[in-house]
Amino acid sequence: MNDAEPTSTPAGSRPTLTSRHDQWVARDAAVVWHGFTQMAAYADNAPVIVEAAEGRELIDVDGRRYLDAISSLWVTTLGHRVPELDRAARDQLDRVAHSTLLGNGNVATIELAEALAPRVPVSEPHFLFASDGAAAVEQALKIAFQFWTNQGITGRTRYLALGGAYHGDTIGSISVGAGGFGTDVFDPLRFPVLRAPGYDDPGWADTAVSLIAGHAHELAAVVIEPLVQGAVGMWITDPQSVERVAEACREQDVLLIADEVATGFGRTGTLFASDQCAIRPDIMCIGKGLTGGYLAMAATVASRRVHQAFLGPDLSEMTLYHGHSFSGNALAAAVARRHLQLFDELEVLPNVRARAAQLAAGLATLAERHPAIGAIRQRGLMVGVEMDPPTDGLRWGRRICAAAVRRGVLLRPLGDVVVLMPILTSTPEEIDRIVGVLGEAIDEVCGP
Ligand SMILES: Cc1ncc(COP(=O)(O)O)c(C=O)c1O
Repeated sequence: MNDAEPTSTPAGSRPTLTSRHDQWVARDAAVVWHGFTQMAAYADNAPVIVEAAEGRELIDVDGRRYLDAISSLWVTTLGHRVPELDRAARDQLDRVAHSTLLGNGNVATIELAEALAPRVPVSEPHFLFASDGAAAVEQALKIAFQFWTNQGITGRTRYLALGGAYHGDTIGSISVGAGGFGTDVFDPLRFPVLRAPGYDDPGWADTAVSLIAGHAHELAAVVIEPLVQGAVGMWITDPQSVERVAEACREQDVLLIADEVATGFGRTGTLFASDQCAIRPDIMCIGKGLTGGYLAMAATVASRRVHQAFLGPDLSEMTLYHGHSFSGNALAAAVARRHLQLFDELEVLPNVRARAAQLAAGLATLAERHPAIGAIRQRGLMVGVEMDPPTDGLRWGRRICAAAVRRGVLLRPLGDVVVLMPILTSTPEEIDRIVGVLGEAIDEVCGP
């Protein structure tokens, strides 16, 4: 990697550069546009500039280490620089990095789909690959829509989605999403959907079930995040409620789309949250942890029934005319397949359950000591610690996370909810460290 040299910063506006970190931040802000980030303030918010990683720690350009307690925005499952995953990527590079899946196949992708097929809770699945979770959701919406038109059934054009939902940032996915996150400017572009309450309302499933019964004739699909609505701040529901909604979809013949982009690959304590809910969605979206957090890969998983509705004469209207350039990328597929094997070899799920119990106990103790904590919501290793500031504008979430980062634990909030998303292979010591540092950060910002 090159040494920092802020050559592109215009002379005169060049800041006084004191460390390698400052130099890299200046270079970064000069050319990179960071998502969900106000770039005018970016450089002043002490961003971590990662140069390398080891295990569950990220290492910045000055050699400082940060325990990655957000799994690099919920994608990293086994850790960084996992030797077996590194090897899988290198081995695949010796074969081929990428070839198109439009009309042709690739061995690495076929092998991945074969390996995933018995593990996903979707009947006789077919996988339409994409690169990000939002694209997987977008594909799911289009598949659900065309499923009905391919059968000559008209009027099935709407979707039922939940309050608090987040499904990504493309226009379709923000439409089924509940809005917010500063994205209101796009409201005129969002198509209308039928909206049931989110998991913060204990009656959400009752309302959803009656809406499904009342609107089945016009619904293409129901879209849910099983068990945990993550991005809204870790709203949790019980498996039985999810199962009841799935049952209503089955009874009323409405397709169920389970968005497991965040909950998939072990985060909730089972491989998929749908497993805990005993549901088999018609369509499932996976992403984030699919490659262990290594490479951009997502997929829309369709049941046999759904897939069959698209079979017809060559070049006919039955075809799904949709596909991305990097769909089924071979490098990502090879890593994803090895990742799935490692899940079993490393006994990841038992560790998730043990660490989740340890984290719950630690946070309960913390909450007793800190009245500033309003609520703790947890399912597996997906956790939201909701702070309860006495007045608006204190930005506790942001400031607590910044205080944790200064102590070497990387956190990122959702408003005043501090998200804890430890890597699934975390050790007991690392979980203790996350809880300890969070406690110190709360002391610093909210007072002991
Ligand atoms: C449930 C859910 N669906 C979809 C997405 C979008 O995924 P991506 O950011 O990979 O587009 C996210 C991202 O957080 C998510 O939590």
